[in-house]
Amino acid sequence: MNVPFVDLRKQYAPLKDEILAGIEKALDGMQLFLGENVQQLEKDFAQFCGAAHGIGVGDGTVALQIILRAMGIGPGDEVITTSHTFIATAEAILLAGAKPVFVDILPDTCLMDVSQVEAKITPRTKAILPVHLYGQTVDMDPLMEIAARHGLRVVEDACQAHGAEYKGRRAGSLGDAAGFSFYFSKNLGAYGEGGFISTNDSELAAKIRMIRDHGSNVRYHHEMVGLNGRLDEVQAVVLRAKLPHLADWNTARRDHAARYADLLKKLPVKTPVEASGSRHIYHLYVIQTARRDQLQAYLKEQGIFTGIHYPVPIHLQKAVDYLGYKPGSLPVTERVTSEILSLPMFAELTDEQIEYVATHVGKFLTEAVPVGS
Ligand SMILES: Cc1ncc(COP(=O)(O)O)c(C=O)c1O
Repeated sequence: MNVPFVDLRKQYAPLKDEILAGIEKALDGMQLFLGENVQQLEKDFAQFCGAAHGIGVGDGTVALQIILRAMGIGPGDEVITTSHTFIATAEAILLAGAKPVFVDILPDTCLMDVSQVEAKITPRTKAILPVHLYGQTVDMDPLMEIAARHGLRVVEDACQAHGAEYKGRRAGSLGDAAGFSFYFSKNLGAYGEGGFISTNDSELAAKIRMIRDHGSNVRYHHEMVGLNGRLDEVQAVVLRAKLPHLADWNTARRDHAARYADLLKKLPVKTPVEASGSRHIYHLYVIQTARRDQLQAYLKEQGIFTGIHYPVPIHLQKAVDYLGYKPGSLPVTERVTSEILSLPMFAELTDEQIEYVATHVGKFLTEAVPVGS
């Protein structure tokens, strides 16, 4: 059997006619960006998140960068975030001209350890950027309380958390603003690049709209230096066709996660932990084992494709050498980096595929193949 890491063709097949008809209509109309599809998606996805305003943008990295710039965050400012995330989180801070300051994560959820945030606040700190990694939200209540006490803004990196819930509220409505990615493999993915910003702050929303379109509301009149961060109509057609299914797809992912957890529960492997008050939507299903590399190689031989999210934490990446972090500075982050393995996870995964994956994880961990063989 072959189990791909994700299989997008299975999702596309039942939506194909609707998507192609929508693209044809958009192309016939030749309104290629910021047209009716983008505008409708902005309303619908903001509503899905429980936020008052939605702004479609070019990708998740630019979403986070635009939010920070709209908040007036730039050179000389610091933004507290985590290092155990995709590089784009830190890139957005650096592209805005500010400096990322990393705190460690919790070993079970791999999410920001909120208890470490306050110690990192300096007079230069302007914002906190929690990453809802793998599809689960950071513990937002204590974080918002710290932010309020110190007058800091909170920007959610919700790029992996479309529909994730914290105490009954969805990612995208928990901080001052949130950035989403519609990268093709996300729980809600485009067929090219796409991103989204949600916020309840109308003033911020207006500034974000302006920055996304070269700092302009009126064509060729530029009130501020912005950038080209627009979402295009063709991607908005795809996203509009998919959005009505997102809640069901997330439920299917949760069912798969429960099945994996049941099948793996007696094995010497750590399965994902859902924090209390949290509704994880399993963008990724990440297990932890000290024999990660050998397990990954063994699974590949069985036709099972896995991923590592992420193998090198940001603070130890060459690109940010100059920030001065050394190995040992974020011990939990550094340990999980060598132990995490993302198993196949997508809504259309079958019971048979899940059982096949779990059987082989079990075989490897209990039957043989010593470390280093
Ligand atoms: C946690 C996180 N932040 C930011 C991004 C950036 O999104 P994009 O790839 O759309 O720029 C991603 C996407 O891969 C992500 O997973």
